[in-house]
Amino acid sequence: MTKLWSPTTVGRMTLSHRLAMAPMTRSRALPDGTPHELSAAYYAQRASLGLLISEGTQPSDDGQGYLTTPGSYTDAHVAGWQQVTDRVHGAGGYLYIQLMHVGRVSHPDNTPHHRQPVAPSAIAPGAQMFTATGMQDMPVPRALSTEEVRGTVADFRKAAAAAIRAGADGVEIHGANGYIVQQFLAENANQRADEYGGSIANRARFAIEVATAVAAEIGADRTGFRISPGGKSNGIDEGQSGADVYRYLVPELAKLNLAYLHVMHLGNDELLREIRALWPTALLVNRAGRPRQDVAVDIDAGLADVAPLGAFALANPDLVERLKTGAPLNKPDQSTFYGGDSHGYTDYPTLA
Ligand SMILES: Cc1cc2nc3c(=O)[nH]c(=O)nc-3n(C[C@H](O)[C@H](O)[C@H](O)COP(=O)(O)O)c2cc1C
Repeated sequence: MTKLWSPTTVGRMTLSHRLAMAPMTRSRALPDGTPHELSAAYYAQRASLGLLISEGTQPSDDGQGYLTTPGSYTDAHVAGWQQVTDRVHGAGGYLYIQLMHVGRVSHPDNTPHHRQPVAPSAIAPGAQMFTATGMQDMPVPRALSTEEVRGTVADFRKAAAAAIRAGADGVEIHGANGYIVQQFLAENANQRADEYGGSIANRARFAIEVATAVAAEIGADRTGFRISPGGKSNGIDEGQSGADVYRYLVPELAKLNLAYLHVMHLGNDELLREIRALWPTALLVNRAGRPRQDVAVDIDAGLADVAPLGAFALANPDLVERLKTGAPLNKPDQSTFYGGDSHGYTDYPTLA
């Protein structure tokens, strides 16, 4: 008998089952980063997933990398998110806003101020990204001063406060996929000589300070944290001793008693078992591309408490019902993942 349909507690929330919606950038905010009615409808359609983790949301102008992603730092952003949280709550769901500062994974054409991207060190990701004029190289970023690193921690704190003002149930700090937090963690992106670079403890300092500041601002029980150990997205290479960074970071984060840790699992099973053994609260595990018959495997093996799903949730507003009843799933249409209108966003059919 699977535990997938049994209730569990995550932070302040009681979830009626173990599925959740993984964070997914959809690039449909207004040009100033304000989410609007269409996004409210999209999230509300998926409320039966229980915990919805939003698309990556920038905490500042510097934190933006992709076109028309939402923000959480102006009054307009708060009013926009308020529509989303109202609709999700009305439909019986919870919404955590994922705070994503992209660091060097950006291009001046995509940001409000058109400035050079900022990062731990002046090292380009060595990859291209989509801009309004097509694919372009991501430029060499400017290294943040020590003072600016502290300012960036403060930006996360303020963005978390704004998310709560907008009615969010909490925030997830995006420490995965090669964005600023993982840039600090990874030696190949972080060559700093101050207290934020060098040793593992120094490279993990930024992540810990962000989590500490956000938890102090909105409550540890409304703060989640996402990691992707071994991930190579956006030019990250954690090297041979990469797992040791997490063997240091995760116990440090564990001291904060956060609502949850969200592991985007890329295959280091031994590390996942270690994390499970030492993490004190809810553990969310997302395995990319897992087939539907395996969604409960980690939960039933006692390795995870909740299984967030990405692409399945994107394409199936009634995913919970479909998985429960064994109904067929809609296929996600990659051509409508990012940007555009309601097509490929709010028009995936339900069974009814
Ligand atoms: C369209 C799309 C956008 C994504 N955007 C984000 C994001 O903003 N933040 C994040 O942490 N992960 C993001 N991801 C990764 C997903 O959260 C998830 O880890 C990934 O899709 C693998 O899980 P799945 O096989 O269930 O889709 C995105 C994935 C997709 C498909």
